[in-house]
Amino acid sequence: MEEKLEQLRETARLSIDKTNSSQELEEIRIKLLGKKSELTEISKGIKNLTPEEKPVIGQLINEVREYINIKLNDKAKDIETKEREERLANEVIDITLPGKRNVLGTTHPITETMDFMKNIFVEMGFDVVDGPEVELVKYNFDALNIPETHPSRDITDTFYINDDVVLRTQTSPVQVRYMLENKPPFRMICPGKVYRPDYDISHTPMFHQMEGLMIGKDISFANFKAILTESLKKMFGDREVRFRPHFFPFTEPSAEVDIQCAVCKGKGCRMCKDSGWVEIMGCGMVDPEVLKAVGYDPDEVSGFAFGMGIERVAMLRHGINDLRAFFENDVRFLKQFK
Ligand code: DAH
Repeated sequence: MEEKLEQLRETARLSIDKTNSSQELEEIRIKLLGKKSELTEISKGIKNLTPEEKPVIGQLINEVREYINIKLNDKAKDIETKEREERLANEVIDITLPGKRNVLGTTHPITETMDFMKNIFVEMGFDVVDGPEVELVKYNFDALNIPETHPSRDITDTFYINDDVVLRTQTSPVQVRYMLENKPPFRMICPGKVYRPDYDISHTPMFHQMEGLMIGKDISFANFKAILTESLKKMFGDREVRFRPHFFPFTEPSAEVDIQCAVCKGKGCRMCKDSGWVEIMGCGMVDPEVLKAVGYDPDEVSGFAFGMGIERVAMLRHGINDLRAFFENDVRFLKQFK
């Protein structure tokens, strides 16, 4: 029996030494130590031995098993190292291959123009405020003194959610919300999205406006004209500006402001409909009715308001003559605003 065990140790050594693959090594492990192995067979025969032989053979069996285990483990480590080295040798990194470029996006020209306009007014002490795009009829029309029968309330001019709720058609309702929550004196602007059911070369169903409102004691039309002229100069440089009398239900007196066309420099083109001028805002002194509706005393405070089209300003700044370009999001267009 001893001889058999020694022989087993020797065949184990030879077969383990010979192999070079981890799969084959696993097969050898099963053959040498598994349930049907010779070693297991020999262990089962131990019960037939004499009491003197039992401990001697038992110890030898353990030794042989231990020897085989160590041999197997050492070999497994060797194979693993060798396989890793082979893998590394075969894995060639081609450092001449071009890398992945990170493409940097650009700020959308509307966002960029909005930020530009915001900065101009913030420098003049205006607060920037926000308001809901889904708005109550009460704020979008009623509190702004817009009569029940005014055409801008028609379903052809306003997106209604129900009889009392609309997608705001202007940023002016934010004036009302702000006045209800704040006491004069203050000056604020509110840039944001507005909605009207129009679609053609110069209208899209969603566009952007920036509302402005300044209320305080003794604020006059002269103050108003000075502030707007100054801000327009910062926006457009020395281009000519004109104030035209106009009518808005929520301001009195009211005006529309035109700026010399940037595309044709006043000569007349498609952008300015051959007039040389482009209208960029509506404005006026806040109507006493509007002040009363929010609980202010028109004998105590006065002020002015304005609403500017942000797309118009962006078109004039960049000499763009088709409004739709802003919303088609063609990257060839957008890339030009780096
Ligand atoms: N909300 C007006 C519009 O969308 C623009 C406007 C006119 C705003 C006069 C004002 C204003 O604040 O005073 O056409």
